[in-house]
Amino acid sequence: MSKVAVITGGASGIGQAAALRLAQEGVNIVVVDVDEESGNAAVEKIKEHGVDAIFIKADVSKKEDVKNYVDQTVEHFGTIDYFFNNAGISGSGGYFLDTEVEEIEKIVGINLLGALYGVRYVADVMVKNGGGAIVNTSSSAGVTGQDSVVTYSATKHALVGLTKSLVAEYAKDGLRVNAIAPGPTETKMVKEFYEANPKMKENATGGIPQKRLGTPEEVAELVTFLFTSNASYVNGEVIRIDGGFTN
Ligand code: NAI
Repeated sequence: MSKVAVITGGASGIGQAAALRLAQEGVNIVVVDVDEESGNAAVEKIKEHGVDAIFIKADVSKKEDVKNYVDQTVEHFGTIDYFFNNAGISGSGGYFLDTEVEEIEKIVGINLLGALYGVRYVADVMVKNGGGAIVNTSSSAGVTGQDSVVTYSATKHALVGLTKSLVAEYAKDGLRVNAIAPGPTETKMVKEFYEANPKMKENATGGIPQKRLGTPEEVAELVTFLFTSNASYVNGEVIRIDGGFTN
C-alpha cells in the first residue's frame, strides 16, 4: 500500500520540494496551502511521478481549516502516514520593539498555533491507526538566537518543545516526531525577506561556513530520510541543515 503524506505549505519552497521527492518514492501527497493557484500547479507536477495527489486550501492558523484538511485527507486516502508540518512565515524583519503587535499575532498564529492544531488533529488519526511520522519545520532561528526575527525565533524554538514532548507522550503509540532546523534556504520566503532586509543577506551568507544558501532540494532529502523506514529509530531529534551556520 502506498503511504500518504500531508504537507502544509506544500505549494512552494521546501514543502513543494519535499512533496516532489516523496512522490519519487511512490508516496501519495496532500498539498495543504493558502495559495490555491500554486497549490494546484504543485499537484500537477507531483502527479507526473505517477502518484495520487490532491490540493486542499487551508489557512493553518484557522482551526476549522485544519480540521477540514485532516477530515478531507482521511475521506480521500483513508489514513495519514507522514505529516510534514511545514507552513510558516518569517514576518517582515526589523527590531522587535518596532514590530506591530498585529504582526506578532500573525506569526504566532501561523507558525505556532498552525503547527499545534495540525499535530492535534493529525496525530489523533495516526495514533488511532497504529502510528506515523511527523516532521516539524523549525529553523536555525529555532536553535539559536538571531536578531531581527525575535517573534519568528520564539515560534521556531517552540516547535522544538512540541517535537520533544510529543515523543515523550506518544512514541509508545508508534509516533515518530522529529524537527528540522534549516539555515537560510533559497525559497520565496527568504528572497522576500532579504529584499526587505538586504543587510541580513550579507550577514547570513558571510556567516555560513559553506558560503552559500541551502536549496529546497537539499532539505527535501533530509525530510524524506526522516519519513522513511530507514529512520525508524530516530525520534525527538532536531536536525540542523545549514551548511555549518549554527555549528
Ligand atoms: P515559502 O514561502 O516558499 O513556502 C511557504 C508556504 O507556506 C507557501 O506556499 C505559503 O503560501 C504557505 N503558507 C503561508 N502561510 C500559510 C497559512 N497561513 N496557511 C497555509 N499555508 C501557508 O517558504 P519556505 O522557505 O519553503 O518555508 C517553509 C518553512 O521552512 C517555513 O516554516 C519556514 O519558516 C521554514 N524555514 C525556511 C527557511 C528558509 O531560509 N527558507 C529557513 C528555516 C526554516
